[in-house]
Amino acid sequence: MQFAIFWISVDLLVLKKLTLHQQKSVFEDFIDQMTFQLLKLIHLISERVYYSEDIINVPVDMVEGKCEVRKKIDISNSDLPVMIEHVFFCEHFYDRATGALKQLPSNVKLMSVARKATGALKKNKGKQICEDNEVDSGKWMEVPKESRIATLDIFAGCGGLSEGLQQAGVSFTKWAIEYEEPAGEAFRQNHPEAAVFVDNCNVILKAIMDKCGDSDDCVSTSEAAEQAAKLAEENIKNLPVPGEVEFINGGPPCQGFSGMNRFNQSPWSKVQCEMILAFLSFAEYFRPRFFLLENVRNFVSFNKGQTFRLAVASLLEMGYQVRFGILEAGTFGVAQSRKRAFIWAAAPGEILPDWPEPMHVFASPELKITLPDGKYYAAAKSTAGGAPFRAITVRDTIGDLPKVENGASKLILEYGGEPTSWFQKKIRGSTIALNDHISKEMNELNLIRCKHIPKRPGCDWHDLPDEKVKLSSGQMVDLIPWCLPNTAKRHNQWKGLYGRLDWEGNFPTSVTDPQPMGKVGMCFHPDQDRIITVRECARSQGFPDSYQFSGTIQSKHRQIGNAVPPPLAFALGRKLKEAVDAKRQQA
Ligand SMILES: C[S@@+](CC[C@H](N)C(=O)[O-])C[C@H]1O[C@@H](n2cnc3c(N)ncnc32)[C@H](O)[C@@H]1O
Repeated sequence: MQFAIFWISVDLLVLKKLTLHQQKSVFEDFIDQMTFQLLKLIHLISERVYYSEDIINVPVDMVEGKCEVRKKIDISNSDLPVMIEHVFFCEHFYDRATGALKQLPSNVKLMSVARKATGALKKNKGKQICEDNEVDSGKWMEVPKESRIATLDIFAGCGGLSEGLQQAGVSFTKWAIEYEEPAGEAFRQNHPEAAVFVDNCNVILKAIMDKCGDSDDCVSTSEAAEQAAKLAEENIKNLPVPGEVEFINGGPPCQGFSGMNRFNQSPWSKVQCEMILAFLSFAEYFRPRFFLLENVRNFVSFNKGQTFRLAVASLLEMGYQVRFGILEAGTFGVAQSRKRAFIWAAAPGEILPDWPEPMHVFASPELKITLPDGKYYAAAKSTAGGAPFRAITVRDTIGDLPKVENGASKLILEYGGEPTSWFQKKIRGSTIALNDHISKEMNELNLIRCKHIPKRPGCDWHDLPDEKVKLSSGQMVDLIPWCLPNTAKRHNQWKGLYGRLDWEGNFPTSVTDPQPMGKVGMCFHPDQDRIITVRECARSQGFPDSYQFSGTIQSKHRQIGNAVPPPLAFALGRKLKEAVDAKRQQA
């Protein structure tokens, strides 16, 4: 017996008995008929549901969509990132007559083949979890390049966005543009098959248009034209041309939009905001099938929302279908609060990718976008009512890493122990040596301050004793940085500066330069007297341990802090894959 299950409201699920051949079109059938008999009713509390023999009829407008019910043990803890949607868990039978919860009778089969899990669901200890052996067991990693969509990543950084999208088995980044050499080098190391152009994207667009004989249509500065003309022959040969690029993605620089940036009115920030226009110009010239823009959360409100509206309006004007929203990386399996704004665009005739569903419980305020008529729009549903998995913690993320000192600089270390969480196991993969477990060196005074911050959750500069210390030079200095108490009132008490991470909490938003007096001052290890290492930051973003960063320690932190967490990109990529696959099936 198979079931398709209709998710009809926040607190009800209905289940219809089906035969296999009906499953494909059951939802359409259902809509056509407008009524149908419900054979089973199960009550939903959060993502947990209880099985019952009750039968009820519900009006069609209560139906929200198709879903699936599983036993929780069917979800293996060994895969990362996990991506399953509209899946609910059932472990008990609800007896309405007595109000009791009982063991699920063994004859109740919950697994549905109507929907395949879209993520890394695995065989459980050799026992198949799906009756028809169709559950995706991580094969998406092996999708051949030819069946992926050819992708251009602009403002590519070290490749966090490309990495996650590729992991999802949908895209193959053939071209990447990034103008900082170390970031471009990191991209190359991790994606050796991509043609990486380390240059300003305006220069590259000019060179592409020249190559295609469209110089007359190109408005560029003389500087960009000069640099484009100097491009090496080999680079020109590798430039993408219209028709080759199916998907453009990228994160135009965000300094100007970031709420954390105090200098967002500077001329440089304004120039960088124009990068949005450069990015849109690529869309206009290439007209890819899909387009994904990533930016900081404040992108939607920056400049009174004008820049954001301009981006959406331009894409609509080009004929694209457009969807925008804000997602929280913490709900997709990293121990980090990081909200990012996204704009999806799909060419006419394509299927516009949907938003991924949050998988991990994670407090995420401010995911709503205010619309002009006072209404709100939220792309992702809140996880306040639950999600299949708990939040990943700092301990899950870095608890297995060996102890190192302030200023640790040895590039390769041994792990020195086994992983202690499924996150660590997955993030290590088959990596045998630990890379980049290196820590920015603090000066003598900051190190003394760090040693005085208690090793308790939530401790920061407020916990420093009000006393003077003697430096090696003989100078006596205040332990509490003199400027903080005087200006604390105006700056939310400078909360978190010289802060320690909490083993059971999450990382604050990863920044490009972790330092105790920085934008995000909470950068001390939970129980070691040092700034968190490059590898710890990389893990907080969900980069696999095999991922390489390039250049100085500052540069490596910058690459990581700028990146889209690969698990978030993966979640988006799975939705893009659904859209691409559905279109292929239609054809
Ligand atoms: C927000 S980061 C992108 C991170 C990337 N998507 C990832 O996930 O790793 C923006 C990147 O754009 C690069 N950039 C800024 N202005 C640029 C320009 N005019 N041309 C090319 N790259 C630029 C920066 O060096 C930075 O690495």
